[in-house]
Amino acid sequence: MSIIYNDKCKSFHLTNGQISYQFSVEKETFLIHNYWGKAIKNNISHSDYPKRDRSHSPNPYNVNTRKYSLNNLPQEFPTNGYGDFRETILEHVYEDESFITQLSYNGYSKYKGKKKIPGLPSTYIENEKEADTLEIYLKDKLYDIDYTLSYTIFNDFNIITRNVRIKNNGDYSVNINKVLSMSVDFDHNNFDLIQLPGSWGRERKVVRSHLTNGIHRIDSKRGTVGHEYQPFFALVSPDTNEQSGEVYGFHLVYSGEFLANIEVGEFELTRAQIGIGSEHFNWELNPGDEFNTPEAVLSYSENGLNGLSQIKHKFYKKHLIRGKYKNKERPILLNNWEATYFDFTEDKILSLVEEASDLGIELFVLDDGWFGQRDSDTTSLGDWFVNREKLPNSLEYLAKNIHKKGLKFGLWFEPEMISKNSNLYNEHPEWLLKASGRNESSSRDQYILDLSQDEVRENILSQLKVILDNVPIDYIKWDYNRNTSEIGSQSSQIRDGEVSHRFILGLYKILDELVTTYPNILWESCSGGGGRYDPGMLYYMPQTWTSDNTDAISRLGIQTGTSLIYPINSMGSHVSEVPNHQLNRTTSLEMRGNVAMSGNFGYELDITKISAQEKELIKKQINFYKENRQLIQFGNFHRIINFYMANENEAAWIFVSDDKKEALFYYFKVLDQTNPPLKRVKMVGLDPNLRYSINSTSICLYGDELMNKGIFVENEQYYNSKHNLYGDFRSSVIKLTAY
Ligand code: GLA
Repeated sequence: MSIIYNDKCKSFHLTNGQISYQFSVEKETFLIHNYWGKAIKNNISHSDYPKRDRSHSPNPYNVNTRKYSLNNLPQEFPTNGYGDFRETILEHVYEDESFITQLSYNGYSKYKGKKKIPGLPSTYIENEKEADTLEIYLKDKLYDIDYTLSYTIFNDFNIITRNVRIKNNGDYSVNINKVLSMSVDFDHNNFDLIQLPGSWGRERKVVRSHLTNGIHRIDSKRGTVGHEYQPFFALVSPDTNEQSGEVYGFHLVYSGEFLANIEVGEFELTRAQIGIGSEHFNWELNPGDEFNTPEAVLSYSENGLNGLSQIKHKFYKKHLIRGKYKNKERPILLNNWEATYFDFTEDKILSLVEEASDLGIELFVLDDGWFGQRDSDTTSLGDWFVNREKLPNSLEYLAKNIHKKGLKFGLWFEPEMISKNSNLYNEHPEWLLKASGRNESSSRDQYILDLSQDEVRENILSQLKVILDNVPIDYIKWDYNRNTSEIGSQSSQIRDGEVSHRFILGLYKILDELVTTYPNILWESCSGGGGRYDPGMLYYMPQTWTSDNTDAISRLGIQTGTSLIYPINSMGSHVSEVPNHQLNRTTSLEMRGNVAMSGNFGYELDITKISAQEKELIKKQINFYKENRQLIQFGNFHRIINFYMANENEAAWIFVSDDKKEALFYYFKVLDQTNPPLKRVKMVGLDPNLRYSINSTSICLYGDELMNKGIFVENEQYYNSKHNLYGDFRSSVIKLTAY
């Protein structure tokens, strides 16, 4: 039994034997949060939070004591009607202009399994035994509006998902100014806050700070998630490290503007919330209409940050990522972007393909510049027909020739965008997303299409279908290269306050149709690299271009931060040229290869211009990746030395197979020191009782020794060829094989 209701105490216990989440109904009205954490046995949940008469804290109408105030209590669904002065989860303006929302408990139901959220991506189950769902109903005595809070607990994961549904049964519309997907209160504030901020080219840095009083906000006001913040945060015990300590994770399955509040109030309770951003959001819910919030994924780990990653990686691989490539190995690719940028010909592309086929590369991706008059980034977005000057023999011809060489063919698109210098804009300036009457800002000389309009979506779909129905395409890189400004619609049918969310709903409609119609295509999402790396996009596209920054050292940080919450096989990572185009840094091909191999591997450089020696090394890397691809893409990834906890100078991680018989360990060092101290590294995730051979040398060690005593990675005995870590930007790889 995963959801236990006690009628006498009106209490709920969600448990799967690993975690417990408990709350109860008080005063027949309020939902009071009682516990969330490691499983406890008592099914009767009650609030043991002491009640006291607190000065300036109002007592709601239906309690007869000055000791009861919602301002001091841990709640599940705080609104702005009862004198709780902390952040709310919901804000309405009613047709009579009032804005107080007093909700009370109105029953519950529970069922096996989990339902889809209409129009939105969400985690899914394949069998109803995998999860149980509880629905809590709330109502307002003045307005005929139903509120459903939905909680799903998964049987095999320390995960609870939450979302909210609002149904207007009344005769008047109601405005939703804010509605988040979840809110939970902890009865203390002894937490560190972990978040993943960044910017273009330096996404998802792991930043940790001690939580103090006030409201900490993480959000996006950019139309989509953006590079700057993830729709994620974690509250962790101050002593939590990679392998031990409690972690509460909060993540939103949504690709648009979001809002996360972490508030420490006057009595040092901590409120944690996440949901749709409210900056550009004002939804008119008309009579009969329903509004569904995106899904929040709540995770709990008692095994530190690495423990959180274990849960999230497995959970997203099983319950979020879909389609043919869910369990299928991802091809090694060559992308021409950093090799040619916009300046290529058919011959040049075919010469790259020739080399790629020689090296063992499996997929060729033709990036930006193949359509319209696209010789620079100032033109042609929206004109999705081939540029015959560059590709005189058509895309079909190119694709067939690439297939003949034994490679798959991939193509770049940026379908949500429009250039003013395009046929599409000349025909449909009214499709450009902007507030009527306002001037529109350009960014990278481009503008966004208004996906809230039906005709716009139809046009995008029909242009793409012409290509996909005629050209044998195996892979699509779906890009999105600017942030939204002057948000609004030129269509009088669409309210400006709804455009931001309707844009995302429109995008999801398009993606739904494309992934269903073309199930054999491998989709990779991209937004100037990692600007839209979120669970919503992962639902449609199993992989994301992690960052435009391909510098190996920067990638140690970017991939570390990304690995905190996303599976390794969702991360695109390529070897590029040196000096690096984003940073001008030079690192060895070996170092670049080892970093890029810790993800979905590929190359992004002009392989027709490299030396014979480099070609040999690339061939070796490709063979090595092919041999270990299953382990890397579908094994269990553990961080051993977290780059950010090691002064950004070292990182180590290991991939371990499910049966623990195979493992691949990587160690990376940034800057060396003269005469440096030597250090042991302790492995993680192995079987203590299995004996592992190290890099097929004669040295064999038991898992317990590797994990408890550890090894010196500098020890030359572990390697078959000369190996040392002298100098900057060095790496070591150790393959462990049990026998
Ligand atoms: C974005 C992507 C790059 C490349 C360019 C093409 O910046 O992140 O990988 O595709 O667009 O314009």
